[in-house]
Amino acid sequence: AKADPLKIMISGAPASGKGTQCELITKKYGLVHIAAGDLLRAEIASGSENGKRAKEYMEKGQLVPNEIVVMMVKERLLLPDSQENGWLLDGYPRSLVQATALKEFGFQPDLFILLEVRILVAAGMLYYLVASHYLVNEEILVERVVGRRLDPVTGKIYHLKYSPPETEEIAARLTQRFDDTEEKVKLRLQTHHQNVEAVLLMYEDITLKVNGNVPKEDVFAQIDGALTKLHEDRKLI
Ligand code: AP5
Repeated sequence: AKADPLKIMISGAPASGKGTQCELITKKYGLVHIAAGDLLRAEIASGSENGKRAKEYMEKGQLVPNEIVVMMVKERLLLPDSQENGWLLDGYPRSLVQATALKEFGFQPDLFILLEVRILVAAGMLYYLVASHYLVNEEILVERVVGRRLDPVTGKIYHLKYSPPETEEIAARLTQRFDDTEEKVKLRLQTHHQNVEAVLLMYEDITLKVNGNVPKEDVFAQIDGALTKLHEDRKLI
């Protein structure tokens, strides 16, 4: 019989590398990538009323109201491809209400991946360095957002410095997201800090904390180890 497909969630601050890791995970494990942000951007592109409303919130770096997001994600999770191949939920849930709704709908992940982009401060270093921890963290995320570019043809995520396009042809067609400015990412980060704890508490016992402040291949190696183990355990059942 076919093994029970994997159900994975990935969370982290804006620009912590969720989308980048999802590309690598889906390539190896064939899970269906469901990103709340991508679903919302598709809704905006469709020109619908919901899309217009969603954009107002996204421009302010706030969470889009649940009456728009919750059913959108639920319906995508229920499509046959997600059910058959397993899913990788990216950027959802982002609040206690969303996490509770998912649980009530019966969606329980096997693993909750938390990408942490932080500077490791060695024990014994000066206190002011510890106090400036969040500031440094924010600078890394801002640099990532400002340098991010997207390929509208393949959907691939690039960074002008850390993950530059392979050819001139790709470089010429790259686009930027409307919320990828320093000002807007700071607002998104604030929203993230306000909501993350409640979601983490919900998945505490299945959380894998991953250091996101290393090259993307090294971030993936940490995730890959855990997923391989989960996969192997499934095959034995
Ligand atoms: P969303 O689209 O989910 O944006 P986000 O959470 O801000 O995350 P990003 O997509 O910006 O970053 P990422 O972590 O995927 O990083 P990436 O891999 O691209 O949400 C947008 C908005 O939609 C929200 O603000 C909200 O309004 C709304 N929304 C979404 N979900 C919602 C929900 N559940 N409820 C309500 N509203 C919701 O990487 C970033 C850059 O860094 C890239 O250039 C990449 O190349 C580079 N990079 C990646 N990894 C590394 C590395 N290891 N080293 C160096 N550079 C790296």
